[in-house]
Amino acid sequence: MAKLLYAFSCSVDGFIAGPGGDMSWLTPHLGPDPLVDELIPRIGALLVGRRTFGGDDPHRGTEAAGKPFGGGWEGPQFVLTHHAPEPVPGITFVDDLADAVTAAKEAAGDKYVNVLGADVARQCLEAGVLDEILALPVPVLLGDGVRMFDRPGGDPVGLEPLRPNWYRVG
Ligand SMILES: NC(=O)c1ccc[n+]([C@@H]2O[C@H](COP(=O)([O-])OP(=O)(O)OC[C@H]3O[C@@H](n4cnc5c(N)ncnc54)[C@H](OP(=O)(O)O)[C@@H]3O)[C@@H](O)[C@H]2O)c1
Repeated sequence: MAKLLYAFSCSVDGFIAGPGGDMSWLTPHLGPDPLVDELIPRIGALLVGRRTFGGDDPHRGTEAAGKPFGGGWEGPQFVLTHHAPEPVPGITFVDDLADAVTAAKEAAGDKYVNVLGADVARQCLEAGVLDEILALPVPVLLGDGVRMFDRPGGDPVGLEPLRPNWYRVG
């Protein structure tokens, strides 16, 4: 059975994107990462928020732009949106979280569904369907932007460490 993994690069102060969704801060830190190389073949599908899909890309201006993991991964993508655009090959637009999770898990088989986007990841956590979190911190402080988890006034969420920066939820 597929598990939902929220894996992301982040600043040391916990932002996954800068102000306005800027991702250029990540560009100098792109490059080989043994943990990412290990993870990529274990991903069977992506569950993506609409702001991530079509948002800024740290590979902007290169051939790798717009491709998951800079072209390092290919497979089924499920994009959550209330405003589905024209069909895109390989992408399924879904307007309901539970439907998207079910479809992505089915497509992923026994691999991970990688969740992309903080808003979608928070909803998955609140729905009790998020299994694991992997933070890939890079040495930069942003001070502003999209937090990896944003729930003002929220209660603490217990995490069980699996490996450095890799946690099981609950
Ligand atoms: N550092 C990293 O590794 C990393 C990874 C991924 C993303 N990012 C960045 O994170 C930012 C995006 O994250 P985010 O949290 O702002 O947004 P997000 O989760 O990517 O997308 C949120 C959007 O998804 C749609 N959506 C969410 N829940 C839905 C639901 N239940 N039903 C239907 N549609 C739903 C809505 O779009 P509609 O308005 O279309 O309905 C909503 O505005 C981007 O800047 C991206 O570049 C960084």
